[in-house]
Amino acid sequence: MSFFTEREWCDSTLSGDTFRRDVLHGLSQPEKSLPCKYLYDETGARLFESICELDEYYPTRTEIAILRQNIQEIASLLGPACHLVELGSGSGMKTRLLLDHLEHPSRYVPVDVARTQLLESSARLTRDYPGLEVLPVCADFTANFTLLDSGTTQGRTTVFFPGSTIGNFEPREAATLLRRVARMCGTDAAFLIGVDLKKDPELLHLAYNDSRGITAQFNLNILARANRELAADFSLPHFRHRAFYNERAGRVEMHLVSRQSQAVRVDGREIRFNRAESIRTEYSYKYSPNGLRELAARAGFAIAGRWTDERQWFGVYYLLPRT
Ligand code: AVJ
Repeated sequence: MSFFTEREWCDSTLSGDTFRRDVLHGLSQPEKSLPCKYLYDETGARLFESICELDEYYPTRTEIAILRQNIQEIASLLGPACHLVELGSGSGMKTRLLLDHLEHPSRYVPVDVARTQLLESSARLTRDYPGLEVLPVCADFTANFTLLDSGTTQGRTTVFFPGSTIGNFEPREAATLLRRVARMCGTDAAFLIGVDLKKDPELLHLAYNDSRGITAQFNLNILARANRELAADFSLPHFRHRAFYNERAGRVEMHLVSRQSQAVRVDGREIRFNRAESIRTEYSYKYSPNGLRELAARAGFAIAGRWTDERQWFGVYYLLPRT
């Protein structure tokens, strides 16, 4: 039996003040940037769902196909009575695939910043999986968030981290994040992690520059959000979406480029933009199999399972603590 509405935990790291501080800080730097987690307000979360269905955006469907194809093996590695924590749970679509095949999963703890989506998807899971305790945590997992008291669980804790969200972090930070989350989840916690792999830059370019302009809307929404929540006065037509693969750094970068010289007010402060000056809104690192092995090692893990698609566009990895 689960009582998610009573036990849902909302973390203080999500307050509007944090957004204000992060925006003002990011836009006062010589190279302007905004943390990508702010792309996911309600509108952004919805736009991201649309991105996942685009022909050009291969990661979501590729990862789902990999999970489907190997679900028996994956489920048996995670073992019975599994305590599943999911970072950036989103719509919870991949979760169901796992839950449907795990042997009596005991508890599911989705962690996400998009609160409405988190609660809706938790309510649906609670309804559809009687016997599973669903304990949503509305938090920013890049900050030091609090996991609800885990009580006693028989099975191992596995942290499900799909969607290549790990790619949003610089490799050094990514290792730190894995270490920190592992520490919070108990000494023997494992990871099931989805990683976008290096590939033809042309394909990467298309995936982040879709023909319908949904990715552009998703990117620009961060300015609309600042207008809504911080009484900023960004004029969206005065910025354009730009995404490109930075081959040397091994990452896609998403930017908003000022179409003209302009001044914007944010929380009573004036922010100036030169023509063609950009705000970086996201990094999306692409890994090579070796790069991923290095990341795992740096975080104290060894690769205990690895699945990919025919074209090797995406990798799903099972990581166990190195002993
Ligand atoms: C959800 C962060 C993995 O980096 O591909 C999609 C976000 N940005 N299109 C990614 C995103 C632009 C996505 N992640």
